This record gives sequence, C-alpha cells and structure tokens, in this order.
Amino acid sequence: MKNILIVYHSHTGNTEAMAKAVSEGASASGAQVTLKKAADANDADLLGCDVVAIGTPNNFSYMAGMVKDFFDRAWPTVRDKMADKPYAVFGSYGGGGTVAIETVEKICDNMHMKRICESVSAQRQPSAENLNECKELGKKLAEM
Ligand SMILES: Cc1cc2nc3c(=O)[nH]c(=O)nc-3n(C[C@H](O)[C@H](O)[C@H](O)COP(=O)(O)O)c2cc1C
Repeated sequence: MKNILIVYHSHTGNTEAMAKAVSEGASASGAQVTLKKAADANDADLLGCDVVAIGTPNNFSYMAGMVKDFFDRAWPTVRDKMADKPYAVFGSYGGGGTVAIETVEKICDNMHMKRICESVSAQRQPSAENLNECKELGKKLAEM
C-alpha cells in the first residue's frame, strides 16, 4: 500500500478543497493518505512517505509563505534523500496562473525528485472539473 503525503497551505479554502479531493482520489485507490497543513508538516513526513503532493495558492507570484517555511525547515535534512521520490503539485491562483506552482516544482526538481504528472491548477474556487482533476491526480499518486 502506497503511503502518500499531501502537504498544503490555504488562506481561503480553495487549495484546501483541492487537497481534500486529491486525498479522496488517493484513498479511493487504496492508498494510505496523510493530509497535513504545511505549518504542521516536517522533514520526517517527507522522508517517511512514498509519494508526495504539495498544494499552494499563488501568493505574490510565489508559493505561500507557509509552504516556503515548510521547505526551509525540512530542506537541510531531506535535500540529499529525496532523489527519485515521486511528486506532484496543485494549487489555486487569482489571475497569475501557475507561476507559484512552478516555484515548488523548482525546489523538488532541484532535489532530483520525480515529477509524475502535470500540475493541477484552479482559478480561485476550484470548479467541479478542477476537483475531478484533483481526484484523478490522487489516483495517479496511488498508482505510482
Ligand atoms: C496575500 C495574497 C497574495 C496573492 N497574490 C496573488 C498573485 O500574485 N497572483 C495570483 O494569481 N493570485 C494571487 N492571490 C490570489 C490567490 O492566489 C487566490 O485567491 C487563491 O484562490 C487563494 O487560494 P487559497 O484559498 O487556497 O488561499 C493572492 C492572494 C493573497 C491573499
């Protein structure tokens, strides 16, 4: 059984709704899911999972400060231990598109993690279609 970590931050609930849909998709496919806010997650969570999904809103064209803080805290311990770990990124934005998601991907790519699919993004509140994409993403994570 795959052990999947979903880490996210959300100010107004949009990325959180996406995180819950990713979790639902992964659980429905038989994975063991840990859903954590970035403020509550740490290096041990990253090291202990088989697959990770990271969710962030676009805040000033960057990942949310709490997601950056998560990486700042975890990175010294995990930086050389994440190679080939599968990951995917998702998140919500206002009008600026996927630029914040790309800042997360840059960090994961820098640790030589394995991006398993295109990110899933939603403009503000995720639509039913966006949430379905998130469920599909969860399914892909579980199948890794
Ligand atoms: C402090 C702040 C900064 C933001 N900066 C941007 C931005 O640069 N580009 C953008 O597209 N949206 C920006 N937004 C809009 C959010 O990305 C958008 O409302 C998103 O849906 C919030 O997701 P959440 O409910 O998960 O926090 C910003 C929102 C806040 C609160």
